[in-house]
Amino acid sequence: MRILLLFLLPLFLFSKQDFISDYEYGAMLYENPRGIGCAECHGANGKGVEIGTFYTTDKKTKKKVAHEVRGSDITKKTLNETIASVNNVHDIMPTYSLTNEEVKAIYHYIEKKNK
Ligand code: HEC
Repeated sequence: MRILLLFLLPLFLFSKQDFISDYEYGAMLYENPRGIGCAECHGANGKGVEIGTFYTTDKKTKKKVAHEVRGSDITKKTLNETIASVNNVHDIMPTYSLTNEEVKAIYHYIEKKNK
């Protein structure tokens, strides 16, 4: 019996598509895509949230200038733009190693959520 379970375990682990819907799969990846979740910066709906603020000093006036850092609105992007972006190296956004299928699931999740 135990041996049988050992054989079945990988099936449970790798056939997530059969047990959860594409929407749930997309949600899972968006919330926790192996590392920091997209939602931390792009918000629960992909419309973007404030990440933080940094300050610089204006050379002439010596006054502090605040710069707000936001995750951008990703709801208007096409699937190809989203894939290209996730595969790219950014200043703030981390680089992920997600497959195109995974980014597709994230994309459709955001799309459905905003309907
Ligand atoms: C630490 C914050 C952060 C996380 C986490 C993050 N992003 Fe981003 N993302 C950004 C910022 C900021 C930009 C704007 C470009 C830049 O400065 O990197 C961006 C740009 C993008 C863009 C391009 C939008 C544009 O305006 O051109 C897409 C698409 C995108 N992110 C999708 C994702 C997805 C999908 C995930 C999760 C796998 C994710 N991001 C995780 C911060 C983040």
